Amino acid sequence: MEIRDCRDGFEKRLHKESLCNFVDQIKIYNKMKILVATEKPFAKVAVDGIRKVVEENGHQLALLEKYTDVNDFYKAVEDADALIVRSDKVTKEVIDHAKNLKIVVRAGAGYDNLDLEACTARGIVAMNTPGQNSNAVAELVMGLLVFCVRNFYNGKSGSELMGKKLGILAFGNVGRNVARIAKGFGMDVYAYDAFLTADQINQSGMAKAVANQEALFETCDVVSLHIPATAETKQSINYALVNKMHKGGILVNTARKEVINEPELLKLMAERTDLKYITDIMPDADAEFKAFEGRYFATPKKMGAQTEEANINAGIAAANQISEYFKSGCTKFQVNK
Ligand code: 3PG
Repeated sequence: MEIRDCRDGFEKRLHKESLCNFVDQIKIYNKMKILVATEKPFAKVAVDGIRKVVEENGHQLALLEKYTDVNDFYKAVEDADALIVRSDKVTKEVIDHAKNLKIVVRAGAGYDNLDLEACTARGIVAMNTPGQNSNAVAELVMGLLVFCVRNFYNGKSGSELMGKKLGILAFGNVGRNVARIAKGFGMDVYAYDAFLTADQINQSGMAKAVANQEALFETCDVVSLHIPATAETKQSINYALVNKMHKGGILVNTARKEVINEPELLKLMAERTDLKYITDIMPDADAEFKAFEGRYFATPKKMGAQTEEANINAGIAAANQISEYFKSGCTKFQVNK
């Protein structure tokens, strides 16, 4: 068996000496440069964990944290073979600068920040790390809710969550964790998911299925959004839908700001002074929403996945997925197949 280096020593090919047997060539990548580019950094303990995985697999870690200028991202990615990001936008421009890039992993669930077309055009594998930060996001949902029903801790008498109807829109990893925790609060939990049957939701034992998203808004006191931002869902949370909520309805958004039709929600909240909107993703119209004092709250920076545990889970999963891809070609979590 012979080991031969090619492409500046980065790629090695193992092949049997026998001329007839060269069919079982295996591509092995060594000493790859893996860049972690995070405008909102992981906790240090997570970065330490990522570094350990990267180095144990014979690769090299580069870090670009808290960058404010996209040109710094362009420069850092120039010689990277792999890229780990969070909500950082991996645009065509980023891809164009990344001449050596072979794989990009979004350490998290939603990959709407990756230009998949640009990745595919260059043969770059794009992945996410589903489920790794979902408990953190679900815990934040409940934290935001308690804050809201206790009048944002202004000292006035609030209300309790026990016995209230909670609607979960999209019953994936985060939605299921919200259901689990909400049941602990004694909430009555309902769910709708366009990609699941009613039986699948009911059989989870965690939520009661409703027929469609309109029914979810009609039925529930609180609706928590867990839909991804896609062509179908963008702007889908609109005047007509939210107006189906009965008096005192609360809308919680830990998903994406793009799913909200902001002008229509602003109009509705101006008309219906009973509705509340709490969100982990600051709307573009934050200044206008702020006029609804006591009925609106947005975290200053997206905090859902910002726990040490979620950073460790998602960051290390990303490093492992990249190492495995370089080792065996495994594309289990590829999203641009
Ligand atoms: C996700 O899609 O995983 C969450 O929105 C977390 O995003 P973040 O990594 O930017 O905090």
